[in-house]
Amino acid sequence: MKPEIPLQWIKNEHALQNPRSSLAQELFPPGLPQRIRELHSEIPSYGMSPLKSLPALARRLGVGGIWVKDESARFSLNSFKVLGGSYAIYKKLLQRSQLTDENLTLHDLLNLDGELRKGLGSPIFATATDGNHGTGVAWAASKMGFRSIIYVHHRTTKDRIEGIKRNGGEVVIVDGNYDDAVRQVNDDARRNGWEVISDTSWRGYEDVPKWIMQGYSTMFVETQEQFAAQGIRRPTHLFVQAGVGSLAAAAIGYYSVLFEDNVPLSVVVEPTKAACLYKSMEINDGQPHNVTGELDTIMAGLACGEPNPLAWETLYNCADFFAICPDYVAAKAMRVYGMPLPGDPFIVSGESGAVTLGALMFAMEYDGARQLREELSLNRDSQVLLINSEGNTSPEEFRSVVWEGGMPVPEEFKIHYNA
Ligand SMILES: Cc1ncc(COP(=O)(O)O)c(C=O)c1O
Repeated sequence: MKPEIPLQWIKNEHALQNPRSSLAQELFPPGLPQRIRELHSEIPSYGMSPLKSLPALARRLGVGGIWVKDESARFSLNSFKVLGGSYAIYKKLLQRSQLTDENLTLHDLLNLDGELRKGLGSPIFATATDGNHGTGVAWAASKMGFRSIIYVHHRTTKDRIEGIKRNGGEVVIVDGNYDDAVRQVNDDARRNGWEVISDTSWRGYEDVPKWIMQGYSTMFVETQEQFAAQGIRRPTHLFVQAGVGSLAAAAIGYYSVLFEDNVPLSVVVEPTKAACLYKSMEINDGQPHNVTGELDTIMAGLACGEPNPLAWETLYNCADFFAICPDYVAAKAMRVYGMPLPGDPFIVSGESGAVTLGALMFAMEYDGARQLREELSLNRDSQVLLINSEGNTSPEEFRSVVWEGGMPVPEEFKIHYNA
């Protein structure tokens, strides 16, 4: 059987002609991302995640700069996900108690005294996850003194389940895939009166996923501050990975509002085996479409078959290209991050975190991607922003790729690098 090619893509003419989304405007109005970042900074262990530059790799690939927002150590949880879960729990508590963010800050929540606690009751927070989102929800709920119940699908690794438990979550394992876990937790929550903190939306359930997308904007507020310190006004290109699409919609939506007249060109990257946004773009009727089955990819955080409809709406209006990559592309990038060119920093990157670097490398070096790099105008003037959305979240899988060379690039797609 012929191996799968490293990169396939579709151009989104709809967004290229008019990259505007009223939903993005609603999600990221001026001032709100800064306010959310202030709230996050009230969490005692808050620190800005680093924006790392890879100048040697940029030179080799022929772009001006590669900038990696490195979320591998965010709040010691190894992924960006907690930014969404913590903000959504906070907003849910405000909504339940009819308080405003002036009467109840995140700082108050983390230092709850008896009187405040009585007013908030004892909600139990529940969610489905493929690992990172559940860990973030469990961590935030337990820091605020609440219970959380986290549903995982049966292929979730032991390490990821342990991570959720270690951070205070109770774990329920569901037969089926991530999307089945979403349905199951929703049914059980309705019966038990739990508060669902889902990163995907459905009819009548939109507030929480919107808050989650807004919570992610802290990353981009920090990034813009870090770019400014380097004398860079904006990235010219964004490569963002997607599962249900909330992260990509937050990144691309945020930048499309911030730089309305000069929006960075964007590429949404999914695993070939779980490419629901790519499929939706392929069908191109403006609606989100599902893919089904085992969603069998090493990129566990991206193994989602059903797009978040809110994220899809934003991406359909603002994302310029949708791309898919097989697992070996992510595996190669994990090794590149871990064994950088001289002068570039070393970065710990997990499967879902690394795939965008892999996509960028193949976009620049794979003969079959010439048209893509031309259409993206990727050249020495480009400043490319990537998000290393996770570090080593599953040590067994991580070592099998980075130490044992798992998922090697097929012979015909190897690049023969000279020194
Ligand atoms: C590490 C990592 N990166 C990216 C994503 C993708 O986020 P989304 O599902 O919002 O597309 C996830 C989702 O869980 C993740 O865990």
